[in-house]
Amino acid sequence: MTSKSNTSLIQKYNIPGPRYTSYPTVPFWYKEGISIDDWTKSVQRAFSESNEQEGISLYIHMPYCESLCTFCACHKHITKRHSVEDEYIDTVLKEWKLYVDVLDDTPSIREIHLGGGTPTFFSSANLKRMIDGIFEDASRHDIYDFSFEAHPNDTTEEQLQTLFDLGFRRTSFGIQDYDPKVQQAINRIQKYETVERIHTLSRKIGYESISHDIIFGLPHQTKESIIQTIANTVKLRPDRIAYYSYAHVPWIKGVGQRGFDENDLPKDEYKRELYELGKQLFFEAGYVEIGMDHFALPTDKMHKAMVDKRLHRNFMGYTAGKTKLMIGLGMSSISDSWYAFAQNEKRVEDYIARVNEGKLPVFRGHVLSGEDLVVRQHILNLMCNLETSWIKEEMKLENVDEILDRLSEMKDDGLVEIYEDKLVVKESARMFVRNVCMAFDLRLAEAKPEGRIFSMTI
Ligand SMILES: C[S@@+](CC[C@H](N)C(=O)[O-])C[C@H]1O[C@@H](n2cnc3c(N)ncnc32)[C@H](O)[C@@H]1O
Ligand code: SF4
Repeated sequence: MTSKSNTSLIQKYNIPGPRYTSYPTVPFWYKEGISIDDWTKSVQRAFSESNEQEGISLYIHMPYCESLCTFCACHKHITKRHSVEDEYIDTVLKEWKLYVDVLDDTPSIREIHLGGGTPTFFSSANLKRMIDGIFEDASRHDIYDFSFEAHPNDTTEEQLQTLFDLGFRRTSFGIQDYDPKVQQAINRIQKYETVERIHTLSRKIGYESISHDIIFGLPHQTKESIIQTIANTVKLRPDRIAYYSYAHVPWIKGVGQRGFDENDLPKDEYKRELYELGKQLFFEAGYVEIGMDHFALPTDKMHKAMVDKRLHRNFMGYTAGKTKLMIGLGMSSISDSWYAFAQNEKRVEDYIARVNEGKLPVFRGHVLSGEDLVVRQHILNLMCNLETSWIKEEMKLENVDEILDRLSEMKDDGLVEIYEDKLVVKESARMFVRNVCMAFDLRLAEAKPEGRIFSMTI
């Protein structure tokens, strides 16, 4: 692809679209939601089919942050009052107990991920109390992988050591950008020296995989500033780098994202050039591209998972492992039993109140139809492996002609190759993979949504 044709392709395909951390995507879940009874049954089914062999995963959402970063699209609650910690941990443990009560065996936990908000908002003592409390009713799977997200500005040696002693071996640090002007605009002042100190400390303690989150497309970013941010990043040699496209979603997150002007944002082609530049610099530093927005050193297990075609994608993004059942605990968490999704209350007060009533705090969800399950697998194949095939009986779709029809322009534009039984996204068209998935998204095709619900695909 020449750079000129690349420019026109970007203009053509840069449209609002899902990030496909689930299928169906959340806006297309059934309006009537899911009953607690149906949700519980789907958890029991997935548990009995998978607990013994592969184990289960836990995602625990820890919503608090001390100050608001004005770009942030996560579910968070800003407070400086650390007295909120105790009640929150108590509630997470009560919610876990509600799940344990409906399971007929001891859960074998293979994965735990603490996400946020900011897990490192919580004291070491509370983090330990929470994990110990979970394991009062569970055992550890033979192979396990525990990870957490950490904010470099508020992570202490004690927290890193405590989580390490509890079995955590992976951590990811929110970096975003090192440029002072960008940091000012997003209200996130964070020095390189702070990151260097906490990164080096993590290595010394023994963390096996350290990830850094960087975002392109933030206000005031330029090619020069991205070069400096990436130079600082690769100097520390994190095992993984998430290079996220800034999702500008002010219609969802409201004034929280108005810490800067729309005119301060890098636009279409320039934003894409920031991505291409970053990618080039990561390659030069020895990283390989994984899926859509991740880079990893060839020694990291995410890279090995990609080579072995074991990469998976869920609400946390790309992961190197997959369990059939992922229980999400905490405010706004999404659980996935493979057969159904369920999301918890999004306001911390509602979440706590529901759990205190002795009820699972689910407020919406979706039971996947037979067709959803097949489409879901195709979308996972595309997002993780850049190809999918409908040759096997269980991967057949009635509407495959309709889907291929929607892909014909992308074929003419040289983005995909279509064979009798499979579709391959060209390596050079990796940036368009969300657009390819949209052709398979039967719920999106049926609904033709009005108004903005997704960020731009590129
Ligand atoms: C929960 S935060 C990380 C942990 C911690 N709160 C911190 O900020 O360091 C998860 C990551 O989501 C990414 N993120 C948040 N809002 C985003 C947005 N609007 N567009 C793209 N990425 C975003 C950021 O890179 C952030 O580090
Ligand atoms: S980026 Fe992290 S610290 Fe900042 S508001 Fe979002 S979750 Fe909180």
